[in-house]
Amino acid sequence: PPGCSIALRGPAATLTGNPFEQPSRACLATHDDALVVIENGIITAFGPYAALRDTLPASIEIVHYPDNLIVPGFIDAHVHYPQMQMIGAFGAQLLEWLETYTFPAEMSFADAAHAQRVAHLFLRELLRAGTTTAMVYCTVHPHSVDAFFAEAERFDARMIAGKVLMDRNAPAALLDTAQRGYDESLALIERWHGRGRALYSVTPRFAPTSTDAQLDAAGALLKTRNGLFLQTHLCENPGEVEWVRALFPARASYLDVYAHAGLVGPRSMFGHGVHLHEGDFCTCHQSGAALAHCPTSNLFLGSGLFRLFDAVDPRRPVKVGLGTDVGGGTSLSQLQTLNEAYKVAALTGHRLDAVQGFYLATLGGARALGLEERIGRLAPGTEADICVLDPKATPFMDFRAGYCSSIEELLFLLMTLGDDRAVRATYVAGRRVYDRERAGDPFMP
Ligand code: GUN
Ligand code: ZN
Repeated sequence: PPGCSIALRGPAATLTGNPFEQPSRACLATHDDALVVIENGIITAFGPYAALRDTLPASIEIVHYPDNLIVPGFIDAHVHYPQMQMIGAFGAQLLEWLETYTFPAEMSFADAAHAQRVAHLFLRELLRAGTTTAMVYCTVHPHSVDAFFAEAERFDARMIAGKVLMDRNAPAALLDTAQRGYDESLALIERWHGRGRALYSVTPRFAPTSTDAQLDAAGALLKTRNGLFLQTHLCENPGEVEWVRALFPARASYLDVYAHAGLVGPRSMFGHGVHLHEGDFCTCHQSGAALAHCPTSNLFLGSGLFRLFDAVDPRRPVKVGLGTDVGGGTSLSQLQTLNEAYKVAALTGHRLDAVQGFYLATLGGARALGLEERIGRLAPGTEADICVLDPKATPFMDFRAGYCSSIEELLFLLMTLGDDRAVRATYVAGRRVYDRERAGDPFMP
C-alpha cells in the first residue's frame, strides 16, 4: 500500500528552524493537544486538535496519546548494521579495534543468511529506538546490501545504505578491487536507488582502505544517477589521521584526499570529523558536505571531542547530523546519543540545549542529508515518519517528569534519561510499525 491514513492526537513537538542560528525558543513548535493528520503516508495537517477536529476526513481513525509526546522520527546519520554483533568490544582504539573486532565480524557476512538475520534484527532495533531513517554501512558483500534494503522495504522505511568499498589494508576476504567495487555498486544502485523509499550511498570505508583508483571509481559512481549519496569516515582518530598523511603525501589534508576524487559535495556525509581544522570546515561549508557527530563512539573508542559548536558556527555553518556509529558507538538510541552529545559539548565549553539536541536528531539530520522536504518535521507535505515518546517510561522517569514544568524540560529529561524504553510507538509512512504495548510481537511489518 502507498502508506496509511490515520490521525495521531496528543502533546507534540517539532523543530521549525535551526537553533544553532536562531534562539532555541523560536525554533520549536509545540502543542499540548495536537493532531497530526496523515493521508496515504503523508502528513496533511498538523496543529491544535481543537482547530483541526472538524476538518478530519469522516472515516479516519484517531489514535490518542494523551500522556506521550509526538515528535518526528529520529534520523541516524551514521551507523554500521554489520557491527551489531561486536558492539561494546573491549579495550582498543580505532585501528586496533577494526583489526581485532570489526573486520572479523564483517567477514561473517559472507554468509547471506547471516546478513539477513542481522538485517532483520537491526531494522527492528532501529524502530524500537524511534529511528525511522538511517544512513547505513553494509559490508563489502553485495548481498549484505540486498538483505538490508529488503528488510527496510518490508516497513517501507526511508533508508540510505551502500556496499562498503575496500581494495587494500584489510583482510583479503573483505577486499574488492576498484573495478569490481564499481561494477557491484552500480548493479546495487540500479536495483535499489529510488525503489520505494530506498536511497543508495556510495560507501568507500575510509581513505586508508581504498587506493586512489578506488576513490576515483567512487567519484565516477556518484555521477551515474541523480540523488546518490556518499558516506565515509574522516579525521576520527589521531593515529588514523597520521596514517592518511603517510598514505597520501601529495594531499593537503585528509578531506583533500576525498575532494581530489570528487567525493565532497552536497549529499556527502563524513563520519566523525573530530580532528578537523578551520580550512576543512570551510571546505565542508562551501561544498555543502555534512558531518555526522558520533559522540558515543568518539568517547567509547577514545577518539576525541567533536567541536560541534565550531562546526555549526553561523559565519560558515557546516551541516551536522547525529550518528550512533554502532558498533563503535554503544547505543542505537538517539536519546542516549544526545545524552553523550550534551557531555561532549560540556567538555568543550558549550551547552547543548534540548531544542538543539532534537534538531540534530531530526530536522538537522534531514538537512544534512538534503531530505528536509521529505522527513525530519511534523509538517504538511512531509512523509509521516513519527516517534511517540513516553517521558514516564520508567517509575524513575515518571517521578522525575513530575518536576518538569515545560515541554523543553521534558525534552531535556528524555535526552538524558531516555532510551528505547521511552519509545511508545513508531510510525513509518503513517503505519504503526512498532508498538511497545502490543502483546507478542511489537513489530508490524
Ligand atoms: N573507520 C573506518 N571504518 C570504521 C568503522 O567501521 N567504524 C568507525 N567508527 N570508524 C571507522
Ligand atoms: Zn563508522
